[in-house]
Amino acid sequence: MKTEEVEEIIERFLPAEEGLQKTIFTAMNYSVRAGGKRLRPILVMETFRLFDGHGKAAEPFAAALEFIHTSSLIHDDLPCMDNDTLRRGKETTWHKFGEDMGVLSGDALMMYAMETAAAAFSYNANPKNVGTAMHVLARKTGIYGMIGGQTVDVEETGKALAPETLDFVYDLKTCALLEAAMMCGAILADASREDVQNVERIAKKVGMAFQIRDDILDVISTDEELGKNVHSDEKNEKTTYVTLYGLENAEKKVAELTEEAVALMHSLTGENRFLENLLVSLISRNR
Ligand code: IPE
Ligand code: IPE
Ligand code: MG
Ligand code: MG
Ligand code: MG
Repeated sequence: MKTEEVEEIIERFLPAEEGLQKTIFTAMNYSVRAGGKRLRPILVMETFRLFDGHGKAAEPFAAALEFIHTSSLIHDDLPCMDNDTLRRGKETTWHKFGEDMGVLSGDALMMYAMETAAAAFSYNANPKNVGTAMHVLARKTGIYGMIGGQTVDVEETGKALAPETLDFVYDLKTCALLEAAMMCGAILADASREDVQNVERIAKKVGMAFQIRDDILDVISTDEELGKNVHSDEKNEKTTYVTLYGLENAEKKVAELTEEAVALMHSLTGENRFLENLLVSLISRNR
């Protein structure tokens, strides 16, 4: 699935900018339309494809994943969190619309994501699968997933983290949404329980590799290339894979985890070469 196809899906689910509460729609659409790699919706669609999924039920979930991810970025950039002003090559949402709209548009996108995902019920899909996928999406976003991870991330800022604590943070703040993306794709394609469990394991490895590469880029990239403020981790005195293990070891770990993820993909009932290649390409991504 090309980024343009995903863009078309996302665009279809965005709200119209009208009514007295217009500002919230404008802030939501600004943040989503600012772009980004669209990795999570691509993972939904390609995992759905891997398991031979039919129909359109994965589409609202693809959009929902991007809405949740964008909401996590809006909140992550707030002055009370990472305090950043550049995101996806544009002014961060709070910086452009004010802190109040930063908080509200993050909340709005998260809840609108669930509303969007629920549209799958009217897509002639198996309602049990849609319900299961919504449960996974909510759980991996919330206190046992992304929000739980961000909680420890901000709470422990400025402190030296033990390796296990850092792994816990990454597992929740980053892996959880990638797990949700791939698991929802698999569930909606009616994959077996065992396949869904293996998909979760694969996504966990991909997520770890993805966050470690993000740490590396924060050190070696530029604002222009990355489209967000580099050296944000140093500014906020974050423990990262780079501060704990050094750049070279961090790079090795990214490659190692990705190899393990690809090997695990071969245990699945089904194959998707495009997805495999995509995962491998993330090792050396520059944005
Ligand atoms: C950034 O995610 C936050 C992390 C979990 C590392 P992405 O690197 O996927 O951000 P976009 O969507 O491309 O902007
Ligand atoms: C944030 O990690 C992960 C989220 C859940 C948003 P970072 O704080 O490293 O993400 P970036 O580097 O600002 O995108
Ligand atoms: Mg952060
Ligand atoms: Mg940040
Ligand atoms: Mg980062």
